[in-house]
Formats: sequence, structure tokens, C-alpha cells
Amino acid sequence: MRLSEEESAYFHDCSREVLAHHLVKSMSGYTQHGTTNRLEHSVRVARYSYWVSNKLKLKLDRKSLIRGALLHDFFLYDWRTGTDHEGAHAFTHPEAALKNALAHFEINETEADIILNHMWPLTITKMPGCKESFVVSAMDKYCSLKENFNRVKKVKWIPQPAK
Ligand SMILES: [Fe+2]
Ligand SMILES: [Fe+2]
Repeated sequence: MRLSEEESAYFHDCSREVLAHHLVKSMSGYTQHGTTNRLEHSVRVARYSYWVSNKLKLKLDRKSLIRGALLHDFFLYDWRTGTDHEGAHAFTHPEAALKNALAHFEINETEADIILNHMWPLTITKMPGCKESFVVSAMDKYCSLKENFNRVKKVKWIPQPAK
């Protein structure tokens, strides 16, 4: 998967505010899948979601797609130890991520839908309510699978937030 220069510039523009936040940066301290940390996973899902939307020429809100994808796993605990949260992680972490996203960013309806419904169809009643959510949910599963089998290139393309 490769973004053109123009696509990369757009991606960086849309992701700048989210990636500059210290709590988002702190996601790099949590292992997500395999040897992938949560920040890498989130950026990977956002890039794949954006890339596939362009490839398929989907008519959707690309900025919200990118921001929602970057924040879809914005929960701040180690899901592997299971000590810092209540309930089954797979079902509850979208709500934890949305709560954090709403506390630290201006989140629109599409971004909220992406975050809350990304675990569908596991969370059977929380179905994506827009195209952007379907794309992110699919790319999340695709990237998670690759990461679990360590079939990913190391992330060199996390945009460095402007100082
Ligand atoms: Fe998730
Ligand atoms: Fe995820």
C-alpha cells in the first residue's frame, strides 16, 4: 500500500491535530497486536482506510474517515492484562475510546460512529451507521490480522506532528 505524495499531504493535514495530542502519542506505549503498538495500529488502519477509499473511488468524508480511524482504539489501558477496565474488552473498548475522544477533541457524528461501531459484527447491535464506519471496521480487521501474524512492515510513516 502506497499513498501518492498528494495523498500523503492530505493524510498529514487531516491527522495533524489528533497525532499532536500527548494522549494519542501515549498510545505508542501499549502493545496492540504482535509487535505492533496501538499508535502504529491506529495510523495503519487510518492509512489503509484512506487508501482503499481512494482506490474504490468511494464518495465519503475522507477527513472524518481518517480522524475516526486514528481514534478508533483511543483507550488508555493495557487490554492484555485486563485490570484497568470493566467488562469484556472486545465489547467495551469502543465506548472507552469514544469517551476519551469526546473529552479531548471536537468529534463529529461520523467520527463518533466510526469509533463506537468499529467492532461490528462482534458487537452485533452496534452496526456501522455510515460508509466511513464500514471501511474502518473492515480495515481494522485486515490490519489486525496482518499485525497478529507480524506480516507488516515497520511503520516509518507516522507523521511527525508539527512542533
Ligand atoms: Fe478496537
Ligand atoms: Fe483497532
